[in-house]
Amino acid sequence: MAQLEIRNLYVTAGDREILKGLDLTVESGRVHAMMGPNGSGKSTLANAIMGHPNFDVTEGEILLDGQDITEAEPDERARMGLFMAFQYPVAIPGVTVTKYLRTVLNAHREEAGEDPVSLKDFRKQVEEAMDLVEVPREFASRYLNEGFSGGEKKRMEILQLALQTPRIAVLDETDSGLDIDALRTVAKGVNSLRGPELGVLIITHYRRILHLVEPDAVHVLYDGRIVKEGGPELVELLEERGYGWIREEVEAAA
Ligand SMILES: Nc1ncnc2c1ncn2[C@@H]1O[C@H](COP(=O)(O)OP(=O)(O)OP(=O)(O)O)[C@@H](O)[C@H]1O
Ligand SMILES: [Mg+2]
Repeated sequence: MAQLEIRNLYVTAGDREILKGLDLTVESGRVHAMMGPNGSGKSTLANAIMGHPNFDVTEGEILLDGQDITEAEPDERARMGLFMAFQYPVAIPGVTVTKYLRTVLNAHREEAGEDPVSLKDFRKQVEEAMDLVEVPREFASRYLNEGFSGGEKKRMEILQLALQTPRIAVLDETDSGLDIDALRTVAKGVNSLRGPELGVLIITHYRRILHLVEPDAVHVLYDGRIVKEGGPELVELLEERGYGWIREEVEAAA
């Protein structure tokens, strides 16, 4: 069991306060969806969870299994079982998908005091992961993120997720240009990996993806705070009514 607990989180970036007292708990065995209008702070939250240096936590805390990780380095968080798929992945020329995955895997093993994975074992693991998340084999020899379509970036993300077997995964799916196949890739991947050992936080604007991956909990972020929580029915409500009524509720409560 893993639990990521965020308590009263305030985050600033470049002198701007973006998160303003955010509370959220993500547990293994559950898929949490985070929705909210553009600019409400969703990606900021993801970055703060992973310890991105451009985002300063000015108040509150982030706990993983009760341990305070608010000030932990990003690689330490990764070692503790946090996984993050970036909204804008970078291309690394000359490095293939396989090579990259092997490097990442070995870095994790080294941290854990294990020997590097043998080429044979690695091949087997990658092939199993590829089958699991239905990624075509030829994908392994592509150069990392170079000329990747939106859907291919998603495949990469899911492949990494399958190989790293994290305990809590944060997926920022804000890319507006994703087609239904890319959404399906993410959905298929998450559905095949979801289970008692993994907790997932999917950040998305897409109700469509939440029809493919049924979330256990839905959280609505508005102006730096979680203002609404519920089950899948909340997704339908937002689909019908948009965010206007949320704004009205927040303003009425202020
Ligand atoms: N490094 C930064 N410096 C200054 N402002 C920032 C920085 N990063 C984000 N912001 C601002 O913080 C607000 C929240 O941004 P964020 O990217 O978290 O929103 P989001 O909810 O992910 O939006 P979207 O749905 O468009 O992805 C925005 O107004 C953004 O311009
Ligand atoms: Mg975003």
